[in-house]
Order: sequence, then structure tokens, then C-alpha cells
Amino acid sequence: MQKEEKSAPSFTSKVGLVMAAVGSAVGLGNIWKFPYIAGQNGGGAFLLIYLLCVLLFGLPLLITEFTIGKHSGRSVYGAFSVIRNNNRWQWIGWLCMLATILVMGFYTVVTGWCINYLIDAISNTLYSSSDLTAHFTELSSNGPRMFGYSILALALTSVVLWFDVNKGIERLSKILMPLLLIMMIFMAIRVLMLPGSNVGMRFFFEADFSKLSPKVILDAMGQCFFSLSIGLGALITYGAYMPKHQNIIATSVQVAVLDSLVAILAGLIIFPAVFAFGVDPAEGPQLAFVVLPSVFEQMSLSSLSSIMFFGLLCIAAITSMISLMEVLVAFLTEATAQKKHSLDRHKAVLLAVVICVVTSSLCAFSLSGTPEWLKIGDKDFFTVFDTVASNFLMPLGALSMAIFIGWFMPESAIKQELRNGNRSTIHYALGFLFMQIVRYFVPIAIVAIFLNGVLSLI
Ligand code: TRP
Repeated sequence: MQKEEKSAPSFTSKVGLVMAAVGSAVGLGNIWKFPYIAGQNGGGAFLLIYLLCVLLFGLPLLITEFTIGKHSGRSVYGAFSVIRNNNRWQWIGWLCMLATILVMGFYTVVTGWCINYLIDAISNTLYSSSDLTAHFTELSSNGPRMFGYSILALALTSVVLWFDVNKGIERLSKILMPLLLIMMIFMAIRVLMLPGSNVGMRFFFEADFSKLSPKVILDAMGQCFFSLSIGLGALITYGAYMPKHQNIIATSVQVAVLDSLVAILAGLIIFPAVFAFGVDPAEGPQLAFVVLPSVFEQMSLSSLSSIMFFGLLCIAAITSMISLMEVLVAFLTEATAQKKHSLDRHKAVLLAVVICVVTSSLCAFSLSGTPEWLKIGDKDFFTVFDTVASNFLMPLGALSMAIFIGWFMPESAIKQELRNGNRSTIHYALGFLFMQIVRYFVPIAIVAIFLNGVLSLI
């Protein structure tokens, strides 16, 4: 396999790549998941552990994925084989592909909820049900309706993927990401001006360490992987499109900082609002769909706030779906490239859509409880896919990639990518530090936290 065989797709600017990677990272994980997990795990203490995870695992693993992608110029299908010159590591590519399909299943359904809520907010029907819990239950027990909105989410995503990466993903991310940031800052300021919002601020920033347990640390690590889009090869895929002179370390720092900033902003929007209106912050997955709209209802300009919030959620979710689906599209085109039935980009997009329609419909119908046989034991597919992917496959993917780069990728290749033509002492030192972290710290810590967390659940 030679790198030069094909005219590789590529982003045209460094900013474009950063924005696309931020688009991948910033998603439901930041705005929907982060606040409720932080709420359930004691607020400030969780935030601190989370930020530590970002620094100690997140950043090294972002660098790992970008380096593997950029150096190989391949998708997860071929990246490991090109670097090692044999197929022994290709299973990681298949693992990424499997995990991506599972994540797409439930992610598409939740994106569908966001679109549904946005449409309801625009058409002013969000507050017409007897209460918002009923509104949410109506939706999550209605399989066909969830299925319909999942299809809509997939359609919007595939329109962007239909174009080449520099025309579709890059252009859209360059517009939507700054917009998202501005909207979030605006909303945070608005919520912080509510009387009583300081209680929420205290909850979010004051660390209560009595809440810390192995499970909290496992949750923080899982959340960090999910939020930064680590462990499924999404950033290997984008790394392959990275402009030649882009600095991997700087790019990774920018992505980690912006992603954490958005998670903190989401907390700054949600907690002060929740406390100002005396709602329980440990509400769980319903926090964004039930609690928050009811908080908006009590504020002035409630429909505008809901439209803005669900608009934000839709933008964030769809740019993340794009990156997930790009993993499949790039995998499929590359895997079939030299075969009789090779798939061009358009055919690969269509096949990826078909795969995702299947998994997301499994999630939608199984969650709604109809038909009844569509479950694994007493668990619905939605929960099973989420748990298997986030708690097992993503840490496993991240672990394998760390071992691969730390022990099996030629060190000269890594240094070449990280130094990027720069021979200064600081680049040398950073390269050295990175190698020590991915060789020893990351694998040992992932295994330890994983075992500790899993054992504490038994
Ligand atoms: N990071 C996204 C979020 O926070 C989800 C996501 C998109 C993702 N692409 C990914 C997670 C790739 C893991 C791997 O919502």
C-alpha cells in the first residue's frame, strides 16, 4: 500500500481542520450529557476530575489519533497497515468501525429528539402538552416518530457528506462552530443574570470530594473520551485530511480547550437556571429535554430561549454525526478501493446511511418498547449500544491506539510528525514527554480505572 496511489481528500486550511475537529468533539456529549453527569456526580468535584482526564488522557490521545491519521493519510481501515507495513493491526480499524456503528445508532435517535424539540419550539407547540415530562415521554415512547426524526437527522448529515470534505464538512464547520460559541456565550450571560443563579455557580465550581468514587472517575474518563471524540478513529480520519504543515500538538490543544470550554459553558447555562428555579440538578438524561425547557418557560422570552437552545443542540449534534459517519464513509471507500465493486464517495455515503438507518431504528423502536421482543434481556438497544460503545469499545480503542503508537509505530515517524520540521528544544521535550505518557501512563491508567470502575459496579 503506497501513500501516493490516490489523490487524497484534504482540508484546504488549518482553521478548517480545527473547526471540523471541534465540530466533531462538541456535541450532545458536551451540552446534553456533561451537565447531567456532572449533576449526578456532585458538580465541582466532577468538573475537576474531568479536566484532569482531559489533560492526562484526552490531550495525548488526540495527538495520537491525529498523528496516526496524518502520517498514514488513510482512514481507520488502512492507517495501521500502512504504518506497520502489514495487516496485523487492522483489527483496530474494524473495532473502530463496529463501535462507530453502535454510537451512530443511539446518537442519531437523540439528534432526532433535538430536531423534534427545535421544530416544536419554532412552531410554539413545545408547551402545549400538559407538562414537559409528558411531552418527553410521548416522544420517547413513540417508535415511528423517533424513527422519522432519525431519518431526518441522517438526511441532513448525508447532504453535507455528499460533498467533498473541503466543500462540505470544512465549509459548514467554519460557519457553524463560531456561531455556536457566540450563541452559547450569549445564553450563559442571560442565565447568569437571573436572580439566585449564584447557587448554581457554586454547585458547579465548588468541589465536594466526599462524592468521589471509582465510578465517578470511570464516568469522567468515559465522558472525556466521548466528548473529545476519542477511541473510534474519527480523528484518525480527519487527521488524514490535515494540511501538510499543520502542527499536531497545537491543533490538539486548541480542540481540547474549545471542547472543554463548551462543556463548561453548557454547565454555566444549565446549573444557574436549574437552581434559580429550584429544580434538582441530578435529574439525569431528561435534564436538557424536560428540566431546561420548563426553566425557560418561567423566564421572559421563553420561546426564543428554547429555539436558541435546541438550535444549538441541533448544530452541535449534526456536526458530530458528520464526523462519525465520515469514519464509515472513508472506511468503506478505502476498503473497497481495489475490489471489483469499489464504492465511490457517493455510494459509500448511501451505504453508510443504510447501515445507520438499521441501527438507529433498532434503538428507536426498542426504546419505545414496541415491539416488545426488540430487546436484549430486559435492556433496550439504545442503552446497550451506549454502554457497550462508551464503556467498553471506546476505552479499548483508545488503549489499542496508545499501545500502537507507544510501542509499535516507528519513533522516527512520530517525531517527524510532532516536530513538523521544527528542531527547537521545546519540540524535542514535548515529543519525549508525549512518548512517556502514551507508553506507560495512558495504558496503565485506562486499565486501572476501567477495572476499578467495573469492579465497583459488581
Ligand atoms: N464528541 C461528540 C459529542 O461530544 C460525539 C462524537 C462524535 C464522538 N464523533 C465521535 C464520540 C467519535 C466518539 C468518537 O457529542
